[in-house]
Amino acid sequence: MAQMWGGRFRKETDARVRALQDSMPFDIRLWPYEIQVSRAHVQGLRKIGVLTPEEEAKLLAGLEEVQRILAQGEVNWEGVEDVHTLVEQLLVEQVGEVGKKLHTGRSRNDLVVTDLRLYLREEIRRLQEKLRKLRRVLRELAEQHCETLMPGFTHLQPAQPVTLAHHLLAYHEMFLRDEGRLDDCYRRTNVLPLGAGALAGSTLALDRDYLAELLGFDGVAENSMDAVSDRDFVLELAAAAVLIALHLSRLAEELILWSTPYFGFVELDDAFTTGSSMMPQKKNPDVAELSRAKAARLIGNFTALAALVKALPLTYNKDLQEDKPLLFDSLDNLQLLLEVFPPMLATMEVKRERMAAAAEQGFLTATDLAEYLVGKGWPFREAHRVVGEVVLYCLEHGKRLEDLSLEELRRFAPQVEPDVLEAIRLETSLRRRALRGGPAPATVRNRVAELKKRDQNLLK
Ligand code: ARG
Repeated sequence: MAQMWGGRFRKETDARVRALQDSMPFDIRLWPYEIQVSRAHVQGLRKIGVLTPEEEAKLLAGLEEVQRILAQGEVNWEGVEDVHTLVEQLLVEQVGEVGKKLHTGRSRNDLVVTDLRLYLREEIRRLQEKLRKLRRVLRELAEQHCETLMPGFTHLQPAQPVTLAHHLLAYHEMFLRDEGRLDDCYRRTNVLPLGAGALAGSTLALDRDYLAELLGFDGVAENSMDAVSDRDFVLELAAAAVLIALHLSRLAEELILWSTPYFGFVELDDAFTTGSSMMPQKKNPDVAELSRAKAARLIGNFTALAALVKALPLTYNKDLQEDKPLLFDSLDNLQLLLEVFPPMLATMEVKRERMAAAAEQGFLTATDLAEYLVGKGWPFREAHRVVGEVVLYCLEHGKRLEDLSLEELRRFAPQVEPDVLEAIRLETSLRRRALRGGPAPATVRNRVAELKKRDQNLLK
């Protein structure tokens, strides 16, 4: 049986059409779920009396056997239309005529989304597991670098002092949100379409609640037409994947910059870089570069998925078959990326001195000086203007703010007292940024501890 249908056709399908439309190359990965769903469906048919207990037993044993055969990976599925056809065909080979009862009351339209939802439940959990590992590495690095001073940037220009810990925990926040977003995806993915049939259910009294229970779905799709045509869950996951990839790409871009000799903030481990065939001296951050590129690819996949669904009339249309190669491509690539990031980060060498030296440039405590004047009663706008003049003076005299004497500062702001010299030191600036969410080492250390506790509780 190369196809599940054909009775009303006088001719074979053209071979070129088969090449275009057969989905086997990408839906073969759904076979374990196809079997799981078929098992539940058989039990459901028995429950409502469509199958006898003997038939049920035969079919379940047959599906067990099919599972064994497919697990060996030696099935030749050439010329088979799709995974649904393959499993039914193998079942009939195992159990004979009774196997032809499997497809009672169901359609590939409700089957394929039931399989896919089951598959995605696992994929989502795997992504979350990897995100947790990544967050753990970020948290551990942060723990070591609460005092590692570095410049914080806006417009990629030096702005205010931060620490490497604070910088890395910014990414931690992103990945924490990503994990939450995946929880949301999971909730809307974990709904049973089976029973919706081709589009309008079945005249058989399929017990969909029972099927949902057997398959571990938290709910049942309430409208059979929506059930077979809904791909929101695919788009949501593809979008969540895009966000994760975007976050990785931003981190990747920083690693690329930071590992240039001009920054020299980090050196990536040999195992996570590559060389040049021509230039012997090269050590290139290819992983990070590929991460940027993969983000582009995931955006493309998301865009294509959205375009698939746009203006698509109800219910099932063959367009929807194209959802899988796009989504699988996104997920496969994202899983790969998430494998590489934790070890790449954990093995990278942090050059504290280079970061500290960079923080010396760029007048990072200029805002601190302005806020010092605010403490003396100055309107901030006035303080801002005068500190701008101080910076200009420093630029003209080749000085840093910390190099200025009290007398020099008093020329601009007579009210300053000796404690101003303390206020414009980088370490002071950092320590004083102790408001909630700020970079002060003590604040960041608290946040690290909080996050650690949170993850430990999750594991309990
Ligand atoms: N292979 C299809 C898909 O991936 C599922 C089968 C529905 N096909 C059909 N001719 N009704 O969407």
